[in-house]
Amino acid sequence: MKTTLLIKNARQVVTSRGTSEKPLSGEGLQELTVIEDGAVAVSGDKITAVGPTAEVLDKAEPDDRTRVVDASGKVVLPGLIDPHTHVVFGGSREHELALKLQGVPYLEILARGGGILNSVEATRAASEEELVRNGIKYCRQMLAQGTTTAEAKSGYGLSTEAEIKTLQAIREVDRAQPIDLVPTFLGAHAVPAEYKNEPDRYLDLVIEEMLPQVVDRKLAYYCDVFCEDGIFSEEQSRRVLAAAKEKGLGLKMHADEIVPLGGAELAAELGAVTADHLLVISDQGIEKMAAAGVIGVILPGTTFYLGEDHYAPARKMIERGVPVALATDFNPGSSPNNNLQLIINLACLYLRMTPPEVINAITINAAHAVGRASEIGSLEEGKKADLVLFDAPNYDYLAYRYGTNLVSSVLKNGELVVEVK
Ligand code: NIG
Ligand code: FE
Repeated sequence: MKTTLLIKNARQVVTSRGTSEKPLSGEGLQELTVIEDGAVAVSGDKITAVGPTAEVLDKAEPDDRTRVVDASGKVVLPGLIDPHTHVVFGGSREHELALKLQGVPYLEILARGGGILNSVEATRAASEEELVRNGIKYCRQMLAQGTTTAEAKSGYGLSTEAEIKTLQAIREVDRAQPIDLVPTFLGAHAVPAEYKNEPDRYLDLVIEEMLPQVVDRKLAYYCDVFCEDGIFSEEQSRRVLAAAKEKGLGLKMHADEIVPLGGAELAAELGAVTADHLLVISDQGIEKMAAAGVIGVILPGTTFYLGEDHYAPARKMIERGVPVALATDFNPGSSPNNNLQLIINLACLYLRMTPPEVINAITINAAHAVGRASEIGSLEEGKKADLVLFDAPNYDYLAYRYGTNLVSSVLKNGELVVEVK
């Protein structure tokens, strides 16, 4: 197999290995392979060798057509994976900052018709092309910061037409730029104004009209629901998710973020792939998720931006065996950040996760959270050549510096798509 690209002399090549069957949990979440003076050989869009530079050079037999990337002084990681985003939406919500600073709570802004419902208006008003243009812009920002795969939710349309438009836009954004997007249908993100006080009637529409179209047109892999006080109850969430499961979609949940409603328990009962947020998860919820193998996707950027004083109990979740992943939750309201590097800092500082745990949580466990662990999430022979090079002497440095983009190159499907000179 001809080596088309070779990365050599990296200070560290850092990855989990042999972990594509099951997400990492407990002590296992710490496990990283660190190769000093490391190299990665690539043929086409696949990794063909990973190891010390001398060994890889021997094996890879580069010729004068091989592109060689000198990674001296750099740390190489698998391309970062962001397993929870709302990257396609209309408008923006900077005007809500003033309300927030006056102390108006997040759910109160929504109850007044703002918040998610404000973005729903803007998303409905936007053309599909406009949504695609914005989505591409946000994805390019993410790519420049090291993200090579991301989950992407609908949920700002909340009508059949606008939900389908959003999912089509997600598909188009996926095609139009390097980041791979994994689409999730989130028709049950909020109750739209025209169904105010009739959430069950709105869910009839989600289940009877939207869901069949989404599935028939193969527009999503997962179905998600915002299980929250004043949004959808545990009972209502169960209805949506059970219907989606029956139609063959994987399940995700916005669970136990602000008020504990038993979301984690429900995720475990239904065999969801992930339950996300989990700031107020109960001990029982933790036990059930661990037993059922539901991945807890923690979103510390949202907690930070909402100014909450308590973060998800990550240490407890890890100790009790919940496989943990991390994501940005990029969205126009509660988390207008799409940079996973900032999530590294927040996870270390506020979730008390160690740098190895965090790296696994945004690579291999994030790959499991989007159902793609056999293809991405670690640097192993046969996996996709999605890699990121950081201008850093070691991986701890990524958790130590903050607010500066440390990416020097990004490789997607074996091609250099970002190069910082
Ligand atoms: O994940 N929690 C619900 N949904 C989003 C926020 C959406 C918004 O405020 O626009 C979230 O935080
Ligand atoms: Fe979210």
